[in-house]
Amino acid sequence: MYYFGVDYYPEQWPEERWFEDARLMEEAGINVVRMAEFAWSLLEPVEGDFEFSWLDRAIDLLSDHGIAIVLGTPTAAPPPWLMAKQEDLFLVRDDGVRITYGLRREYCPNNPLYHSYTEQIVSKMANHYKDNPAVIGWQIDNEFGSRCYCGICQGEFHRWLSERYSDLENLNSNWGTIFWSHVYTDWSQIPVPLSTNDHNNPGSHNPGLNLDYYRFISDSYVKYQKIQVDILQRMCPQHFITHNLMGFSYKLLNYYDLAEDLDFVSWSNYIRTMWNMDAEYDPSNAALAADTMRGIKKENFWVMEQQSGGGGWNMVAVPPKPGELRLWTYQSIGHGADGIIYFRWRTCLHGTEQYWQGILEHHGTPGRRYFEVAQVGRELNKVGELFSGSVNKPQVAIMQSYDTRFAFQIQPNNPRFGYEKHVQDFYRGFHSQNIPVDIISEKDTLEGYKVVVVPSMYVLPRETATLLERYAEAGGIVVFTARTGVKDESNAVVNEKLPGLVAKMCGAEVEEYISMPIDDDNYIQFGLPELEQGFDASIWADVLEPNDAQVVGWYTKDYYGGKPAATLNTFGEGKVIYLGAMGETAFYDAIAHLVSNMAGIEPLLETPVGIEVTERWLDDQRLLFLLNHTDQNHNIKLSASYQDLLSGAHLKDQLTISPRDVVILKQD
Ligand code: GAL
Repeated sequence: MYYFGVDYYPEQWPEERWFEDARLMEEAGINVVRMAEFAWSLLEPVEGDFEFSWLDRAIDLLSDHGIAIVLGTPTAAPPPWLMAKQEDLFLVRDDGVRITYGLRREYCPNNPLYHSYTEQIVSKMANHYKDNPAVIGWQIDNEFGSRCYCGICQGEFHRWLSERYSDLENLNSNWGTIFWSHVYTDWSQIPVPLSTNDHNNPGSHNPGLNLDYYRFISDSYVKYQKIQVDILQRMCPQHFITHNLMGFSYKLLNYYDLAEDLDFVSWSNYIRTMWNMDAEYDPSNAALAADTMRGIKKENFWVMEQQSGGGGWNMVAVPPKPGELRLWTYQSIGHGADGIIYFRWRTCLHGTEQYWQGILEHHGTPGRRYFEVAQVGRELNKVGELFSGSVNKPQVAIMQSYDTRFAFQIQPNNPRFGYEKHVQDFYRGFHSQNIPVDIISEKDTLEGYKVVVVPSMYVLPRETATLLERYAEAGGIVVFTARTGVKDESNAVVNEKLPGLVAKMCGAEVEEYISMPIDDDNYIQFGLPELEQGFDASIWADVLEPNDAQVVGWYTKDYYGGKPAATLNTFGEGKVIYLGAMGETAFYDAIAHLVSNMAGIEPLLETPVGIEVTERWLDDQRLLFLLNHTDQNHNIKLSASYQDLLSGAHLKDQLTISPRDVVILKQD
């Protein structure tokens, strides 16, 4: 069975309405709902009085309509009676202000009192629902995040540091605290990185301390989540446990660590929201997010919140056009979703998210979004079985690291540089050519990949450098870019020529690095037979000095005009490319094309711009998802014969895909 569902908040509606909701859900093919993740005030209206009867009734009703239940633990939105107990329950922001009640996620993740109330509500829920046959799994909390800088966190940070460094001498030397006389003689002297007297410069704390604080906060949420995981695993061993992550762009937590204790990753996928009011959207955003989520455990995922309408709070977002909800759903499936749950069933009448559209409008009667979702429900009922368990098998990997992402938040290096954008630029290069990509961590195995792209791996662990060396030696193709190997794991700059630990495999070193002006660019001219083009180069310029490598690109302007900008080295059986500057879109397209050719990787299909193709494999059976993100019809040439799974038709030479339509092909 393919899981297809909605996020449902029965507690926000009169009980008489639930019957109509359940009926409409069943008619739309809904077979799972997520519930209760914001219902603590109703589940424990008064401290110690637990009230599950309303939720039991909702679960029974849904279950009578063939709907399974994922329960959210309600800890992301604590009730006022709990938060009124102690000021310390509230987190302290980086400006030192302790927040007050009024939104959600207000709690300090290290507060022991919060932990004990968490244990209590989670145990009570687990005990109550452990034998309920309708319940299949749990989502812990909701979208972990928010950094706290309170005294409790500071104490825990000291404990965390003493575990990492054992003694203060070691910490002082790793952080280089002699700079500005910060040598600590007692753990209690170590601050948390609150904003300093130079409050316009958030990176002004010691970079070593700052990076460790990112890691510590991330670990704090991993630990907090583990409190809940342990209870649920013990009491409900037959249920799955997940958490809803926030895709690629979220960068305050190490998602690899967070997901270790989960059975699988789920996440929230929003495309048209009040934060993105452009008429056009870039389909590679959601694709990259999905591939990142799949890469976390190297397994398929669920979308726990798939967009069901325009997403707005104080602004009303541009609504999805007809066909887009269905298109985005299949995009998620094409990238590895084994379950789709829409956020949310019905647009709410009250609260911060009054303008976050559900499948149903405020008035609750079915409209075009409902009918579109119902169409997907019918289709999945027919073909969904084929998807679950099928896998993506990319031959290209892009390597990312949360330590590097943390370090770039502390020191972005250049006002125009964004690590996430840089990764995205590379990703888009492959995506626009229908070449599937895995997003992997700096610690993953590289087996099975023909190309590994390593954009700006600023904090470069020795084991990653070794991994990449072995991979290239054995025949892999590696692409590095500027700002690789700059920092060690304590966020100190390495005492060698860049790119430091990978300079040998690059066969080149950085002679000089130049942070470019924000209003001036340079230009790289490539001189390979396969790539004779030139491109705008911006943000950064590493001027390279080849040792064994061949120079394949040169700067053309300024005092370093004529100097090497890109190199290609043969290392063992493999090839290593180093790119010294960031470029325009066409630059990344060209590099993606170049390395795919070098590796003999073919696009899944050649398609016009705006047609995305993804691939899933069910054993030896190949499924292709063709997604038309444009407003036009397009003809697409086929190189084999296929069955169109949704229409049943057999297709040979070509097909026509309508605006915002989806075609799923099974190779004959
Ligand atoms: C998600 C969150 C949901 C809801 C939604 C719309 O990030 O998990 O609870 O808030 O955004 O804002």
